[in-house]
Amino acid sequence: MQNKKRIIVGISGASGAILGIEVLRALQKNDNVETHLVISTLAEKTIFHETDLSLNEIQDLADYSYPINELGATIASGSFETVGMVIVPCSMKTLAGVASGYSDNLLLRAADVCLKERRKLVIVPRETPYNGIHLRNLSFLHDQGVVILPAMMTFYHKPKSVQDMINQLTGKILSQFQIPFSDYSSWNGMDNDHNE
Ligand SMILES: Cc1cc2nc3c(=O)[nH]c(=O)nc-3n(C[C@H](O)[C@H](O)[C@H](O)COP(=O)(O)O)c2cc1C
Repeated sequence: MQNKKRIIVGISGASGAILGIEVLRALQKNDNVETHLVISTLAEKTIFHETDLSLNEIQDLADYSYPINELGATIASGSFETVGMVIVPCSMKTLAGVASGYSDNLLLRAADVCLKERRKLVIVPRETPYNGIHLRNLSFLHDQGVVILPAMMTFYHKPKSVQDMINQLTGKILSQFQIPFSDYSSWNGMDNDHNE
């Protein structure tokens, strides 16, 4: 295994493309990490709809980037060692694809590889409300060892902006891979509230 932590970042077509982008930005600042990015076809639409960034600008945030249909890419094989993958945001369609093992694109295949190699897979689902199928898929994947880390709002760090909330989520995702993130506030206990 090489020295840098190789992490696969999948951005699927749920709302909240910015969540995946901010994870890439945070990882880009870390010299000990090497990122491998795959963006789904529908995510290209949410990126266009929800952000002012071009696809190229987002791909430039990663060390390596792959087309969604490139099923011969390195990350499609278990022999390419990584510390795992995060899918952020994860659509309910991609969730279903992972849960059923239906790997008809590179994002799904990379997730399938993480599962078969028993590597860390973090899924950041973005949908509300959930239906029974979503909940069944989330529960099933949890039982397969997947970390289900929903894009939830957080308040205990007293956010003053959406960016503060995104940073908190980013920090939670990175901590799953033991990667520090300076803009993340971990809970220090209620008694410390008045000492700030
Ligand atoms: C603007 C926009 C927002 C969407 N938001 C969500 C969402 O929050 N969650 C979700 O599961 N699907 C959402 N969808 C639907 C997915 O994009 C759709 O199910 C698609 O097939 C997902 O494909 P993918 O998982 O390969 O990216 C959204 C679609 C569009 C166009």
